[in-house]
Amino acid sequence: MKTVFQYGPRLVLLAAGAALLAQGAMAAETGDAAKGKAVYDGTCVFCHGQNGKGEIPGTPDFTKASGPLSQDDSVLIQHITEGFESPGAAMPMPAKGGNPELTDADIRNVLAYLRAQFGHQK
Ligand code: HEC
Repeated sequence: MKTVFQYGPRLVLLAAGAALLAQGAMAAETGDAAKGKAVYDGTCVFCHGQNGKGEIPGTPDFTKASGPLSQDDSVLIQHITEGFESPGAAMPMPAKGGNPELTDADIRNVLAYLRAQFGHQK
């Protein structure tokens, strides 16, 4: 009995810590849409538009079910990070939207925002 009283609270703390860690890991993987909005508004909106349908010729419509967001996260993260040009495109997508300061986390966050705001969950 004595040992239970001694170690019980510590076990509870350990479990709470593990849950927090697990939450952090999930957020890192899926991205934070609220933070992604700031990235979008700062870097992407000029070409892709507030409504995600494209502001200038050559930009795709994110809201279309068969549009770019129907692709896997891994593909989209690569295309956002490295840039992308489809065959016969009027204009390529610049790497990181032309903002080299964007981090990997920024890109995961902005993708989460694209999916939340315009997208079709996959
Ligand atoms: C200078 C204009 C411009 C900016 C800024 C820009 N894009 Fe793009 N983006 C484009 C164009 C043009 C395409 C279409 C390229 C093609 O199909 O060849 C595109 C395509 C995309 C695609 C679809 C890729 C695919 O696989 O079909 C995604 C996702 C995307 N942009 C996300 C972003 C994000 C996120 C940002 C901000 C970090 C951003 N873009 C900033 C012009 C831009």
